[in-house]
Order: sequence, then structure tokens, then C-alpha cells
Amino acid sequence: MIHCDGLVKIYKTDDLEVVALQGLDLHVEAGELMAIIGNSGSGKSTLLNMLGGLDRPSAGKLLVDGKDLLKFTERDLVKYKRETVGFVWQSNARNLIPYLTALENVELPILLKGRGKRLRALELLEAVGLSHRIKNRLSELSGGEQQRVAIAIALANEPKLLLADEPTGSLDTRMSNQILDLFRELNSRMGITIVIVTHDPLLARKVDRVVAIRDGKTSSEIIRRQSYAEELAALANGSIFEAEESHVEYAVIDKAGRLQIPASYLQADEFKEKNKVRVEMEEGRIILYPPEAK
Ligand SMILES: Nc1ncnc2c1ncn2[C@@H]1O[C@H](COP(=O)(O)OP(=O)(O)OP(=O)(O)O)[C@@H](O)[C@H]1O
Ligand SMILES: [Mg+2]
Repeated sequence: MIHCDGLVKIYKTDDLEVVALQGLDLHVEAGELMAIIGNSGSGKSTLLNMLGGLDRPSAGKLLVDGKDLLKFTERDLVKYKRETVGFVWQSNARNLIPYLTALENVELPILLKGRGKRLRALELLEAVGLSHRIKNRLSELSGGEQQRVAIAIALANEPKLLLADEPTGSLDTRMSNQILDLFRELNSRMGITIVIVTHDPLLARKVDRVVAIRDGKTSSEIIRRQSYAEELAALANGSIFEAEESHVEYAVIDKAGRLQIPASYLQADEFKEKNKVRVEMEEGRIILYPPEAK
């Protein structure tokens, strides 16, 4: 679904250039539910905006659903946003209109006319578990319910790819969990590919793959040993699982063979403030030694 190679985004303001993405690689399979994590300013929203066709990359390669986004004309871009992607923003102010009801909010972006429109909106609100709140104005809904309306809107055009930027950012843990359950359900029921940007490590643990971004580049990937669905099944069967061992973290090697060593490893006394390491191959392993080690 997503092929992103050496993606670069440079923001130019009057006298300043910010390199928000510095050759980022990311591959996402169709039907995946995955998360992107990273510190503030690491380039998560920038990446999501590129994927959503809201902004254009400066260089590199970006294919979504087989379409080359760097070759898009303005017209292609409009069609792409209308047909291929759905977007949920962190701030509801950007997703929703407060003085309309839930139903009216969802009806708005649907391109059908008359009765078809209403039926489709009702269907979408049912899909996100809000059938009982359709007549309420947005201001009468909780944060989590508002976010459900936003998700219903993002699904209105039957996108193949759903992008969510901090969809649970303003919600408490219980609500965040419910929203994540909803994403998981939509993913398995509709087969829609979902990419979630989050700050929340707990939320990230609940998807099968997490890609960490650091300074505008993919730095590591955390993959579940067991899918979340399998884990839940195992829990239901009464088997005990070791939380610490449910994920494996991989460092990512880019096309040029560059590898980012987890920052915590470099804090060890032997490696602290060193700008080189000795690299040796030994019985199928690559070993890094402090520079002065014998
Ligand atoms: N429109 C813009 N013009 C100039 N610089 C920008 C613009 N948007 C983002 N940036 C800069 O690009 C970098 C990446 O920003 P981005 O919003 O992608 O980070 P983020 O990972 O989403 O952070 P957060 O977790 O705080 O949302 C930052 O240094 C930011 O200041
Ligand atoms: Mg952001």
C-alpha cells in the first residue's frame, strides 16, 4: 500500500530551511494496522501529510496504492484525496463542525444526494458504534464520541488507506483503548490499511508493528512476536504472557547500509561520546566494539 524510499521534505520559510524528512524509508502492506511513533518534531505529521496528499514531498519516492505521488498533477491530487485516503486529525476542530449534529457532520462529505446520503451516513455512524447519538450536536458528545464521528467521516469515501494523526491525543486511557479497538475492528472487517501516529507507547504496543522516526528518518521497528489478536486469544484461554517479551525491536538499515544504534546503548560508558566504533564480523554476527577495545 505504501512504498516510501528516501523521502525528503524541506520546508522553506523566508530565510530558513527546515529538513523535516531526511530520506525516510517506509513500507506498509495492504491490510496492515501499524503505528508511527517519535518525539515531537521528528517528522510524523509531515510524513502523514505527504501520505495524505495534503502536501508535496521535496524529493525521494512515494507510491501509495501503486500511484506515484511525486508525479501527481493538482487534479490527480484532488482525485486521490477523494478516493484513496481518509484522514483523522488530532484536533476535532479540524475534523468536525460543532453546531451540527453527528448525523449532519457525517452527511456533509458524502457525495451522494437525497436518501442515499442519509442511509450511508447512518451506516457509517453504526460502523463506529454511534447509532444512539446521531441527533446530538457535537458539543453534546464526549471527546471519544467526537473522535468516532471524525472516523466515520474519514470512512465516508471508502478509502483504502486511513491515516490518523494522534487520534487519541486528547483522550484518557479508557477512551484511547476504545478508539484503538474500533480501528482494529475496521481493519479486520473492512480490510482497510490503517496508519496511526501516536505519542502513546501503550497504544503502540497494541498494534503488530511500530515504526519509530527520529530526526526525519526511520530509526527502528518494533514487531510483535505474536499478533495482538493471537495474544488476546491466548489470554482468553488462560495462558500467561510475558509483557516484556511480546515485542522485538529492530534497528533499520537504510539503502546506503546506514544503521542507527539505539540511543540508550550509546549511553553505556564504553560508547559514551565516541564518534566511531570498531565493526567485526563473527560467526554470522556483526559486533560493535568501543574504538579502543582490543
Ligand atoms: N509548515 C511548516 N513550515 C515550516 N516548518 C515546519 C512546518 N511543518 C512542520 N515544520 C517543522 O518540521 C519538523 C517536523 O514537524 P512535524 O510536525 O512533522 O513533527 P511531529 O513529529 O508531527 O511532531 P509532534 O509530535 O509535535 O506533532 C519540525 O521541526 C517542525 O518545526
Ligand atoms: Mg505532529
